[in-house]
Amino acid sequence: MFDKFNVDFVRANFPALKGDWAYFDNAGGTQIAEQSASKITDYLLNTNVQLGASYEISQLSTEKVALANVLWAEAINAKSPREIVLGSSTTALLQNLARALTNYFKPGDEIIVSNSDHEANIGPWLSLHEKGVKVKFWHINNENYRLELDTLNELMNENTKLVAFTHTSNILGTINPVKEIAEFVHSKNAMVCVDGVAYAPHRHIDVKGWDVDFYAFSLYKVYGPHYSLLYGKESILKELSGINHFFIGKEELPYKLQPGNVNFELAYGSTGILDYFNSVYNEHFSEKNTILNSRLEKVFQLIADHEEEIVRPLMDFLNYKSNIKIIGEKTSDKNLRVPTVSFIVKGRKSSEIPLLVDPHKIGIRWGDFYARRLIESLNISDIDGVVRISMVHYNTKSEVEKLIGVLDKII
Ligand SMILES: Cc1ncc(COP(=O)(O)O)c(C=O)c1O
Repeated sequence: MFDKFNVDFVRANFPALKGDWAYFDNAGGTQIAEQSASKITDYLLNTNVQLGASYEISQLSTEKVALANVLWAEAINAKSPREIVLGSSTTALLQNLARALTNYFKPGDEIIVSNSDHEANIGPWLSLHEKGVKVKFWHINNENYRLELDTLNELMNENTKLVAFTHTSNILGTINPVKEIAEFVHSKNAMVCVDGVAYAPHRHIDVKGWDVDFYAFSLYKVYGPHYSLLYGKESILKELSGINHFFIGKEELPYKLQPGNVNFELAYGSTGILDYFNSVYNEHFSEKNTILNSRLEKVFQLIADHEEEIVRPLMDFLNYKSNIKIIGEKTSDKNLRVPTVSFIVKGRKSSEIPLLVDPHKIGIRWGDFYARRLIESLNISDIDGVVRISMVHYNTKSEVEKLIGVLDKII
């Protein structure tokens, strides 16, 4: 299967990869596909007018921006373009969501957040404390680094209204069983809000199949521009208070949740990401397939296989080194993890390591990656958190071999 993945073809779509740097900080942000950058430029240079007027160019720009909702709805298997809310970042979108939900909660209601999340999916829910909402923490098992349903069960009661958790931690790399968790939470009459930021660059998204209520991810980590997407079930979004002007009606989805409107060029530009995936599909599959979601499913199967192949030598190396402790899944199994890999080194600060790797033109990173509560609960703040190596499908086996060679010398 691995041999079938044409990584040279893939890399040719990313002008930034023509240089001699190996990028292993992709969970921080990926390179942008040329198709996406071109669409941003096209919008700005050819149709940069205000939407919704009667003249031809305005009609054209309106169509371009609307395309983002139509295509992303198809891409992630949402029911309707009205379920796609766009915004500047996942952090902002989740803050807006919590604000729109404020009136939904009443004093005494409970929300559960996970301690393995980026702060983007914790802070907004904690702020509802002011409204009399109690927020509880779902802690990972510190032995296997997993979120476990038994632990969640102990936290839930008839007051629980929402469980906010990450599909994949940006440190641990573990893929949480989102469908199973959503089913469990729904059986207790609560909703789920899932942070898909560290999952979306690696695997296919199926919001209907998983039956999630809210799902957010950042397009700049999925080969696009600095922009983000929040999915919400239409039946729930319809009930939320708007956070836009008072005259924007409750039924105006997603506009009532997009104060100041979307960024036109980035909304349209984000559809270039899907053009990129389409070209990967056409390169690898001869079968004509008219359904975008199903093409993406196939592309992401190829991506998962390739990622497993390239992360395996790294996992073998890290598992073999007695002075290294992997923080997260120890396996390279594509069903259990994405290739976002963190570790600490005995007797060393994590901040020391990337500085020794930098001169080799390899970009890696250290820190808490804004999952500060996780790093604190693992008692590794004093060694500056973890060293993180985060790969995506455009990374190659030879880049990984080079990285391992460098790490072997310095650790
Ligand atoms: C897992 C995870 N969630 C949320 C975020 C926040 O995303 P944004 O930068 O779009 O606000 C990040 C950013 O690093 C992340 O890694």
